[in-house]
Amino acid sequence: MRNEYNHLVWHQSQVTRACREALNGHKSVILWFTGLSGAGKSTLAHAVEKRLYERKCRTFVLDGDNVRHGLSSDLGFDEADRKENIRRIAQVAKLMLEAGHITLTAFISPFRLERNLARQIVAEGDFIEIYCKCALTVCEQRDIKGLYQKARLGHIANFTGISSPYEAPENPELIVDTDQWSIDECVQCVLDYLQEKGIIH
Ligand code: PPS
Repeated sequence: MRNEYNHLVWHQSQVTRACREALNGHKSVILWFTGLSGAGKSTLAHAVEKRLYERKCRTFVLDGDNVRHGLSSDLGFDEADRKENIRRIAQVAKLMLEAGHITLTAFISPFRLERNLARQIVAEGDFIEIYCKCALTVCEQRDIKGLYQKARLGHIANFTGISSPYEAPENPELIVDTDQWSIDECVQCVLDYLQEKGIIH
C-alpha cells in the first residue's frame, strides 16, 4: 500500500518506551506464537499471560479469532488476506511494544515471509517467535472447533494444513512441543526464556 501522505511528521512522545519499561519493572517484547489451527497457540498465549499477570507484568493477547472479529473483519483466508492480516497485527504489536507491554500474539501466520516481515516491522531483538509444534494428525484428531472435518469435506476453502500450506519456522527463538509436553511445561519453557533473557525478573 502506498503512503500518499509523505509530508507527515513523526511526533516523539516525551514518555518513552524506556520510561514505561522502568515504570513496569520489565521489558516490553512481542511473543509471536505460530502453528497450525489446534496446535495450542491461544491456550498457551493466555496461560503465559496469566502467569505474567500474577507477576504484575503488563500484558495483552492479540488472538486470531478475536482480531478477525474487528480489526481484520474485512479479511478472509486467501494468501493476500492472510498477509495483510499479519501486517496489521505486526503494526499493532509494534504500538504495544512502545506502550511498554509484553504482547502475546496467537495467529497461524503460516508464511515464513510474512513472519519475517512482522519481525522486521517490530525490530529483530523485540520479536520472539514461538513455534507451537504439533503434528497435523494430532491437530486434526483434536479438531476442537470441528473445522478440520469441514475442511476435509470441502466446506472450508484454503484451510491451513489441508488446502493451504503451513511453513514451519526454520529458526524460531523457541519451539514448544505441544503434542508432547503438558501446557504447564510449555508455559514454563516460555517463562524460563523470558527470565534468562532479562525480560522479566
Ligand atoms: S492467519 O493465517 O494467521 O491469518 O490466521 P488467523 O488470523 O490466526 O486465523 C485462524 C483462525 O481462523 C479460523 N479459520 C481458519 N484457519 C485456517 N484456515 C482457514 N481457512 C480458516 N477459516 C477459519 C480458525 O478457527 C483459526 O483459529 P485457530 O485458533 O488457529 O484454530
